[in-house]
Amino acid sequence: MRTNQPQTIYLNEYQVPAYLVDHVDLRFELFEDGARVHSTMTVRKNPESSQADAPLELNGDSLKLESVTLDGSQLAGDAYEEQGDKLVVHTVPAQFELNVVTWIEPQNNTRLEGLYKSSGMFCTQCEAEGFRCITYYPDRPDVMAVFRTRVEADKADYPILLSNGNPIEQGELEGGRHFVTWEDPFPKPAYLFALVAGDLVEKKDTFTTCSGRSIDLRMYVEPRNSAKCDFAMDALKRSMRWDEEVYGREYDLDIFMIVAVDDFNMGAMENKGLNIFNSSCVLASQETATDASFQRIEAIVAHEYFHNWSGNRVTCRDWFQLSLKEGFTVFRDAQFSADMGSPTVKRIEDATLLRTAQFAEDAGPMAHPVRPASYMEISNFYTLTIYEKGAEVVRMIHNLLGDELFRKGSDLYFERHDGQAVTTDDFVRAMEDASGRDLSQFRLWYEQAGTPVVTVSDEYDKQSGVYRLNIRQSIPDTPGQSGKKPQHIPFALGLLDQTGQPLPLNLTADEQNGPEERVLELTDAEHSFEFYGLSDRPVPSLLRNFSAPVRVQYPWTREQLLFLMSHDPDGFNRWDAGQRLAVDVIQSLMEASGDAEIDSRLVEAYRSLLNDTSLDQALVAKMLLLPSEAYLVELADQADVPAIHEARERVLTHLATSLREELVACYRRSLAQGDYQLTPDAIAHRSLRNTALAWLLHIKDVEGLAFALDQYQTADNMTDRLGALRALVNSDFVDEREKTLADFYDQFRDDPQVVEMWFSVQAASHQAGQLPQIKALLQHSAFDWKNPNKVRSVIGAFAGQNLAGFHKADGSGYQFLADQVCRLDDSNPQIAARLISPLTRWKKYAPQYGQQMKAALEHVRNKNELSRDVYEVVLKSLA
Ligand code: ARG
Ligand code: ZN
Repeated sequence: MRTNQPQTIYLNEYQVPAYLVDHVDLRFELFEDGARVHSTMTVRKNPESSQADAPLELNGDSLKLESVTLDGSQLAGDAYEEQGDKLVVHTVPAQFELNVVTWIEPQNNTRLEGLYKSSGMFCTQCEAEGFRCITYYPDRPDVMAVFRTRVEADKADYPILLSNGNPIEQGELEGGRHFVTWEDPFPKPAYLFALVAGDLVEKKDTFTTCSGRSIDLRMYVEPRNSAKCDFAMDALKRSMRWDEEVYGREYDLDIFMIVAVDDFNMGAMENKGLNIFNSSCVLASQETATDASFQRIEAIVAHEYFHNWSGNRVTCRDWFQLSLKEGFTVFRDAQFSADMGSPTVKRIEDATLLRTAQFAEDAGPMAHPVRPASYMEISNFYTLTIYEKGAEVVRMIHNLLGDELFRKGSDLYFERHDGQAVTTDDFVRAMEDASGRDLSQFRLWYEQAGTPVVTVSDEYDKQSGVYRLNIRQSIPDTPGQSGKKPQHIPFALGLLDQTGQPLPLNLTADEQNGPEERVLELTDAEHSFEFYGLSDRPVPSLLRNFSAPVRVQYPWTREQLLFLMSHDPDGFNRWDAGQRLAVDVIQSLMEASGDAEIDSRLVEAYRSLLNDTSLDQALVAKMLLLPSEAYLVELADQADVPAIHEARERVLTHLATSLREELVACYRRSLAQGDYQLTPDAIAHRSLRNTALAWLLHIKDVEGLAFALDQYQTADNMTDRLGALRALVNSDFVDEREKTLADFYDQFRDDPQVVEMWFSVQAASHQAGQLPQIKALLQHSAFDWKNPNKVRSVIGAFAGQNLAGFHKADGSGYQFLADQVCRLDDSNPQIAARLISPLTRWKKYAPQYGQQMKAALEHVRNKNELSRDVYEVVLKSLA
């Protein structure tokens, strides 16, 4: 229970800042028992503010104030006041210099916000509101200042001293200390400030920009990670080139730095010129990183780099606008990844994440618009809705405008708003102005929460050759929002004839050679579209390439799905048809009696996927994966996890048993693909091989076991080694599983990123990850409560991926999670608030589960001194 209730902050109460800061001069004295921060700000009244004689208010959190000086004179005690999380200076002139000295304790900072220590080094995380944990400051993104930062520390322990911008001075100090001064010429909000001090190795490279400027590229990592930097450095150079070519964006400073830190709440942070990464999102080598990690690293390196324009040069006016930079930047990194690898596979991965997790968020108690209207704790709004749905919204604008006009729009946006802190509305306006299109209805995507449901029905008239599609849209109510207006939905589709050939889409009787694909623009609650000149009933291919983040309902027959699986020219929809078919088969098993038969057509469809080597193997690798339990939960009304788990396992067993020979052949074929490479094709073969392995072990196949043990021993890369381990862990070859797990740990115990995989492979497995085993993992010497990656890899993987282990009829999984959240809330509220999320969806589950989930939430609510982060989530979930 919280005693003082946190305030809700509303978008419609936004006011421009009363004071602006033009320049900040920071001096950090770093010591083992704390740090002294000297800040000198050049402040002036904001001419645009109506608050004429407002006192100066600065944000602060966990600071020890040592002195306040205004224009050179120390302020008397009654001239200012520390009010909880604010420093208020009562009367100030129109323009002045304010000096504030604070003392902070980075070594005791377990929240990992502001300045903290991670394996011996000093580092920062200031987004969204971490800078106020460093010094008193107007900590809001619409206050942009030029920063100069002098860092002082012991030279032997902290030879590397970094901050934003360019180094301008360095030197020796007394007592074995030294300093470096950095200056960042680009005005920026405090959330983009960064500082690093440590004993790090430096990796050097250079990049020549399109205008011929040479940029120094630097990576700083702990010495033991020295061999894990090449991939990220390369990805950085690819990103820099890509942003020039695709968006015309050139890098602006003379140096760009990346630092890896082990303890980090999120993936990475785009601080100006000094990106700080979670080690697991940047360090990689063939022996220690899986294909999935390589792809993730490439995407995150690109994402943070792209923020230099979409986020830093043009930033957010306030935190309600977070998706302005995150949605746009995720869209940009997705385009980049698509260009670097397989576009279809990338689209499938993004749509899977969206449909599984973002749709669930949109249907749950924390549902919020892409531009939220209120929040209590902004950290809780770094969500899939802001990031992924926000990216989908930008993608739809891209699809509506087309490549060229979209580029014109982004050019206009960057030119018009360079150096400014702006809103999502400014972004949309730039797109409108550049294209001449009216996006006023489209703006509802930013304002209305909830996933639109698009219901399609069709009629065919043989006589006239007219095929009619009736399309309705509706948007479900979400907390605080009901009676929503129809949105502007780009709906891509095609029609196929009975042989699988695409048909021309003629929208009038006169049209003859219409295009084979159209993007229908849905703007009303109901539309009907007629297609002319069709001599047979066509098969519709709907929402191609997932052209909008919506749920499509259409009464597909299994014949149609099988047909689309093998004929749709749209790769995404081929995959989607396979998913829908598998979902249908699994769901009908759940409804039928225990030994109901499994549709043999599913087996045959998978058989052709496995046999037809002429197919795009990257797509086949994706198509072979059954829909996840989490997705099946999302599709259910009152999810019964054990029933879902059992039905899905039965289908898997049936497929693996029926296709055993094909799986063995597929496994052997994929092994013969030659040396290790990181190409889409080679990645596809590793994925196929590991799926085949998993399926064979699922049915306890002894030949499969031999494959797995051999692959584990001889693998020259982590994808194969971990693939074999995972297959063993998920099997009931208990002895081999335990032996291999022990061997793996012995081999990689000194590599935190690999140990994290080792934890999560077990925690996510319904075989090796039952509650007693999870509790044992928490006792393991490599587990560390202070390290978010470790917490996520055990507790997060258990509650988020091991649904059968977590959702037990006795509620033990829920109570366990509630206890861990309470424990973490005291040290790291951001992590605690994220970890609790599986419980928040309690209404989604069958009552015997849901009620116990709710009880676990209530248990958390009753804890003493709940953080604002967890309080907000629990309050909204129980509302
Ligand atoms: N802006 C960072 C990114 O690239 C994420 C920062 C998250 N910070 C937080 N407090 N949740 O997406
Ligand atoms: Zn971002």
